[in-house]
Amino acid sequence: MPQYHQFDALVVGAGGAGLMAALHASRSVKTAVISKLYPTRSHTGTAQGGISAALGNLEEDHWEWHAYDTIKGGDFLCDQDAVEIMCREAIDAVIELEHMGLPFDRTPDGRIAQRRFGGHTNNITKKPVMRACHAADRTGHMILQTLYQQCIKQNVTFFDEFQVVDVLVENGACNGVVAVELATGEIHVFHSKATLIATGGFGKMWKVTSNAHSLTGDLPAALLRRGLPLEDMEFFQFHPTGIYKLGILLSEAARGEGAVFINGKGERFMARYMPTLKDLAPRDICSRCIYQEIREGRGIDGKDYVYLDFRPEVINRYFEEDGNPKRVDAHYLEQKLPDIIEFARVYLGVDPITQPVPIQPTAHYAMGGIPTTNDAEVLADETGRIVEGLYAAGEVACVSVHGANRLGTNSLVDLVVFGKRGGIRMAEYAKQASFRPINRDAAAKEGAAQLERIRNSNGTERPSAIRKELQALMDDKVGVYRTGAGLEEAIDHIRDLQARYQRIRIDDKGYKWNTDLMEAWELGNLLELAEVTAYSALWRQESRGAHYREDYPQRDDVNFLKHSMVWKNGRLEVRSKPVRITRYAPEERKY
Ligand code: FUM
Repeated sequence: MPQYHQFDALVVGAGGAGLMAALHASRSVKTAVISKLYPTRSHTGTAQGGISAALGNLEEDHWEWHAYDTIKGGDFLCDQDAVEIMCREAIDAVIELEHMGLPFDRTPDGRIAQRRFGGHTNNITKKPVMRACHAADRTGHMILQTLYQQCIKQNVTFFDEFQVVDVLVENGACNGVVAVELATGEIHVFHSKATLIATGGFGKMWKVTSNAHSLTGDLPAALLRRGLPLEDMEFFQFHPTGIYKLGILLSEAARGEGAVFINGKGERFMARYMPTLKDLAPRDICSRCIYQEIREGRGIDGKDYVYLDFRPEVINRYFEEDGNPKRVDAHYLEQKLPDIIEFARVYLGVDPITQPVPIQPTAHYAMGGIPTTNDAEVLADETGRIVEGLYAAGEVACVSVHGANRLGTNSLVDLVVFGKRGGIRMAEYAKQASFRPINRDAAAKEGAAQLERIRNSNGTERPSAIRKELQALMDDKVGVYRTGAGLEEAIDHIRDLQARYQRIRIDDKGYKWNTDLMEAWELGNLLELAEVTAYSALWRQESRGAHYREDYPQRDDVNFLKHSMVWKNGRLEVRSKPVRITRYAPEERKY
């Protein structure tokens, strides 16, 4: 018999979006959070550089400027009503976090300190604006700790280290989830009126990635299996500054504080490509420029990396050249960027205060995901029909506020704004809804069957070998640069890996803390999402934001100013829906 639990509101995922939703839902209904990790190990904790809000604490700023930058940064694929909500509500969200006790860095007169970040501009001068509120380079960590404390204070129930394996979607409504308790292997059925998914990204399908091992897209894959679509999966962001070969993130905050990219000829090459924003151009552009330098033989020593240089004397030289009166020293940088300076020292043996740091673009963030309304309700199709009782927020969701390319710091804004909206909406719904009946034994059996199939499979294929092959393939064919032929090859290869996955074998057949089993199950999810990603990328015959097709190098608003939605019912099917445009007409993206 499975263990059975009943909650009005159930949140899956304990990062910023999940905790914000749980906090707000728990103010009016009985709420629980299920997480595959201990909550404060969630990936929000690795977000470094800041959370943007047009507070205007250090210079003039307006939420409308933030909205315009977000839409332009997203290459005009964002739904503009959602962006307006996000940028307007970001201001109150940051103040709300401050009032919860989040230890933001401060200006000398005590206001929240702000710094520059890529693509955030003064819309009149076109120059970078200080919009990113930060707590050193540990902003996500501080948000996570603050929200977790608040949830504990609010008596939210936590089920830590439970892996959700199925979402109970039936007849257009969601009734909860099925999970396995990792410590025991026992199956639990969670029956809910409202369920919100906030499980983050799925970057582990790439080899060089800033994503944690846990980011394997389990819940989007479960919804796909339940016949629901995913939106804009072709758009995956490559952050320009991953530690060379390891992919670990070195925050864009370094460039916000003045760091520059340097090529093998010692040139600050971004000045050539983007004369106004230079090293603070949006991420999609910076990543392509880095690869352009490498392709043309100007990597460091002709190799496949460039430098991120944040030696104080280098920063000050370029500040002077740019007419910026600011100057920095080692002490200032150690205070503003302590974690990433430490990362470079520990992982590369390079001291950024005295040496330039080898970097390369790293798979970082999913712009696409589970389609939702502006109140986090999950969409069943392109007409706007919703799945009753099902919500999603944060990176796993596609609202869509990031369009084809997210601006740095907007992930944290997204998760607090839409996490809160989702939490409030699910509680409103749960207050007036009744529990729909479920067959708990059948639900448990179906969830457990997925794991039993792997446990009992006696093939010869090793999950680790398949994962390695998938990640190399995705880096090679579904990375910063893509072609139709390469994507077709990738799809064939992924399907071959999926067939081999049916013949896997694991060694650990036990129930307690069976990481062998869980990693094999996660691999199945990655393979599903990789296929959808490559398939949507093949469908989109244009270049827009982070999706760059060498065979279609132009943006094509006539044919592709629309969102993709992909279903997998036996075979993959793509449909589309229009982009919602309010006040910012699509224009050429110049910086
Ligand atoms: O570079 C960074 O600190 C990352 C921030 C983000 O992805 O928003």
